Amino acid sequence: MKPLIAANWKMNKDIKEADSFIKNFKNHIKNTKDTEIVICAPFTLLSELKRLLNKSNIILGAQNMHFEKEGAFTGEVSASMLKDIGCEYVILGHSERRQYFNETDELINKKIKAALKNNLKPILCIGETLDQRDNNETLKVIERQLTSCLEGIDEVKNVAIAYEPIWAIGTGKTATPSQAEEIHKFIRELLTNVYNENISQKTRIIYGGSMKPDNAKELLSMPNINGGLVGGASLDAKSFGEICGV
Ligand code: PGA
Repeated sequence: MKPLIAANWKMNKDIKEADSFIKNFKNHIKNTKDTEIVICAPFTLLSELKRLLNKSNIILGAQNMHFEKEGAFTGEVSASMLKDIGCEYVILGHSERRQYFNETDELINKKIKAALKNNLKPILCIGETLDQRDNNETLKVIERQLTSCLEGIDEVKNVAIAYEPIWAIGTGKTATPSQAEEIHKFIRELLTNVYNENISQKTRIIYGGSMKPDNAKELLSMPNINGGLVGGASLDAKSFGEICGV
C-alpha cells in the first residue's frame, strides 16, 4: 500500500502564493515516487493548481463539498463539480468543519456517499478532544465517529481514514508515535470487524496533528500509520517536501 501524504492548506494562499509553492515544491520531491502526494487546496485555487500540476504526479484534492448533486444551495459545491475541475480527493469531516460549521457524523456520511458515487476519494477525519482523552473516552469516540460516518458504505478501501486528535491540530503538540499507533491499530481492528481483514488491510489510515519534518519519520514508521494529513507544515514547500520524502 503506497503511503498517502496530503496537504491541508485550509483557508490559506492566493494564486501567486500557490504558483510559487508549486515551483519550489517540485524541486523538493525528487525521490517520492513511492508516495502518493495530494494537495487539498481552497476552491479558488483548484483550477490554477490543476494547470500547474499537469504532467506531475501530485494529485489535487478539495477540503469540503455538499452531498447534493446540484441545485439551490448558495455557496456550496458538489462532488461532480470537484471531479470536473480535476480533484481526486476530498477531505470530509475535518474537526474544524465539525466545530465551526456544525457538521455531524450523519451529514459526513451523506457526503462520503456522494463523493464515492462520483469517484472522488474521501479523506475522512476523526479524532477526540483533549477532554474526551482525559476522560478515557477516546476509543468510544473513535468507534462512534467511524461507524456512523461509514454506515451503509462498503467501498471503504477508497476512503482514507485520517486520525486527527483535536488537541494536536495546529497546537504543536503531536501524539507520540505509540499513542497514534494505538489508535490506528484500534481503527484497523474496527474496520476488520465491520468489513473484513482484506478490506481493512487495504484501507489507508493516516495521521494528522502537528506533523512536521522532524517527527514525520517516526510516526510514518509505525506499522498501522499509512501516511499523514499535514496542515501548518504543508504551507511551506521545503517542509512539506521533506515530509513527503521521509
Ligand atoms: P496541523 O493541521 O498539521 O496544522 O496540526 C492538521 C489538520 O488540521 O489537518
